[in-house]
Amino acid sequence: MIKDIIKDHIVNDLINGDLLEIFREQNKPFQQMMSFYKCATMEVETKFKVLNEEFSLEYDRNPIESIKTRIKSPESIICKLKKRNLPISVESITENINDIAGVRVICSFPEDIYLLAECLVKQDDITLIEKKDYIQQPKCSGYRSLHLIVEVPIFLAEEKKPVRVEVQLRTIGMDFWASLEHKLMYKKSVPEDVAAELSRELLDCANISESLDLRMQKIRNQLAQYDDES
Ligand code: GTP
Ligand code: MG
Repeated sequence: MIKDIIKDHIVNDLINGDLLEIFREQNKPFQQMMSFYKCATMEVETKFKVLNEEFSLEYDRNPIESIKTRIKSPESIICKLKKRNLPISVESITENINDIAGVRVICSFPEDIYLLAECLVKQDDITLIEKKDYIQQPKCSGYRSLHLIVEVPIFLAEEKKPVRVEVQLRTIGMDFWASLEHKLMYKKSVPEDVAAELSRELLDCANISESLDLRMQKIRNQLAQYDDES
């Protein structure tokens, strides 16, 4: 795919140059920036764990199945800057790239996604920068998830720093689908006609997965009416 060829080209260029080395080893501000992003994922992950704990105690249910966190690699950060013709500096990264720190929250039911998003965003130290609802409006591929870009403060010895984090909230079904589709997107050896057929098949699976999510949600809600008082 053309996208992959361009990406390989850029990565090769960088590896020939010294940019990556500066980023990785020599430059303290870059390392410091990466550590701020890591701290921010820890903050956001904890906030979700606290919410899960509260729901577990108060309502005897866990809205969260699992949480995954990741920090974007220096290679991907440089690639993204190059593709967008942006300067490679700590300032440019902080201003322009919102998905260096990533937190993915996997829920069982679609309604829990909105509940958790609302609980997070209304916390007084969280600023919502952007919201993309690919559940209400799925991508053409069939991709569904709720994406938030939030700013969270991290408390250092001498200062408080706002740091941006991309939060992706999805159901188990949405996550299962996205992982498989991601594999197809990054397999360069799949012939174009086969890839097109698999994309159609995946879109069909996305629709089935959506209807399963909704049916399971309905069953959960019906069952909830009969919750035992305790
Ligand atoms: P990026 O530059 O890729 O971050 O795109 P963007 O800034 O337009 O953000 P968007 O909200 O569209 O997507 C961000 C992230 O969501 C991606 O890095 C993926 O993790 C995920 N994502 C978005 N679209 C798809 C898709 O069609 N398939 C899969 N598998 N994942 C997707
Ligand atoms: Mg991204």
